[in-house]
Amino acid sequence: MAISIRQVGPCFAGEVTGVDIAKGVSSDEAAEIDAGMDRHAVLVFRDQVIDDDRQYAFSCHFGPMETATGDIAQAEDRRLPMNINDISNLDKRGEVLARDDRRRLFNLGNMLWHSDSSFKPTPAKFSLLSARAIPGEGGNTEFADMRAAWDALDAKTQAECRDLVCEHSLLTSRSLLGFAEFNAEERLKWQPVPQRLVRRHPRSGRLSLYLASHAGAIRGWPVPEARTFIHDLTEHATQRQFVHAHQWRQWDLVMWDNRTVMHRARRYDHTQVRDLHRTTVADSGPTLEQMA
Ligand code: OGA
Ligand code: MN
Repeated sequence: MAISIRQVGPCFAGEVTGVDIAKGVSSDEAAEIDAGMDRHAVLVFRDQVIDDDRQYAFSCHFGPMETATGDIAQAEDRRLPMNINDISNLDKRGEVLARDDRRRLFNLGNMLWHSDSSFKPTPAKFSLLSARAIPGEGGNTEFADMRAAWDALDAKTQAECRDLVCEHSLLTSRSLLGFAEFNAEERLKWQPVPQRLVRRHPRSGRLSLYLASHAGAIRGWPVPEARTFIHDLTEHATQRQFVHAHQWRQWDLVMWDNRTVMHRARRYDHTQVRDLHRTTVADSGPTLEQMA
């Protein structure tokens, strides 16, 4: 069956038909999906009944893979292997985490707008999220098109942004939530890293704002001034006309380009199971080494 993509969001996001991820895709099919990502930045694949191995194999078509070093669970407490990010509210016995569990509170950071792994020197390119179990209601994932947000900025603000470098850290986004209980090892591991504020997509050539709630400083700027500017830009970029809300069904796989969209999780009943598995494709290198 031929691959086809129908736009489902306001200015981006497409739903793909004609792909069976469990069966595996050819390199031609992967190239078609890649081209779809250039244009839509978010792709939804429905009814993909897959396990972690199938998900990982599919993800590998799109570049080198990341490991889940942004997760907070200690190695002995992990439910999933290191090549899978655990986007669930479960412990390793499959029990729902208690309301005040440290891992749950840390994971609530996903409800703030962000781009995956912008706190790593080489951030994420694509994220692929597979829904294994979802709650009865709520728990959508929202995406914001940072290319459209860039295009809609006035020329003066664009000029001001163009060469700025932000500092991103997981400690910044978590401290916004009042979560500050980090041990010395975590503080060291999550020291701020520099990221360009404006990026050019290597294939489409389009510019986008590169923001995340991990961004807490702009090089050369006083911190409060940097934070108010980042806050204003984020407010601009996440206006309704740039946002698509994905309503999950079990066995959806959603794939997004972290270079060109931000995303966030929405609330749901925390006593219900929500189990999603994420594989993550790494970017080609630090954003400062990429073309402006
Ligand atoms: C992620 C993420 C949002 C959600 O998987 O990286 O931020 O809705 N997920 O769970
Ligand atoms: Mn995320």
